[in-house]
Amino acid sequence: MRRPILIAALLITTSAHAHNGVKDPEVMARMMAMEKIGAAFKTLVSMAKQEIPLHQAKARMARDTIVMQSGKINALFENPATDPKSEALPTIWEDWAHFSAKSDDLTKAGLALDFTDRAALASTLGSVGLACKACHKDYRLKKD
Ligand code: HEC
Repeated sequence: MRRPILIAALLITTSAHAHNGVKDPEVMARMMAMEKIGAAFKTLVSMAKQEIPLHQAKARMARDTIVMQSGKINALFENPATDPKSEALPTIWEDWAHFSAKSDDLTKAGLALDFTDRAALASTLGSVGLACKACHKDYRLKKD
């Protein structure tokens, strides 16, 4: 389960502060939700990789953030708001059922997170990382 975590960790580090200079408030709101998800995910990745200690309360908080914020994705993205800085692809709204299924997948993966110990966290975090990737692959602009 090392690989998915590493891939997902990479995904985070390349996307920090992509929302600088965004003017549209709805685009900003959805980016902020993504950033919260990203920060929570990064915390869990660091715990899984033993960069920081596995702290139960912090892990639970991160899990709750992922579950709660992913539950807002559909409402936040429903209106096709745009901004020159947005990385959201128009296929989101052409393919809404599929997009919203991807956000549900993230909520489910978040709910399935097990942080009893590091091994459990590492193995359940993989599917969270894959859920990010599955959506970004189709619906987020690729950066080089
Ligand atoms: C259902 C689809 C979907 C899922 C699932 C998803 N994302 Fe996103 N994410 C997007 C889209 C679309 C954007 C681009 C939004 C924009 O620029 O308007 C984005 C943008 C981001 C950004 C950049 C935010 C910013 O400030 O611009 C980060 C960080 C991010 N996602 C992290 C994650 C992580 C980590 C996960 C998994 C734990 C995840 N995302 C899961 C669709 C998704």
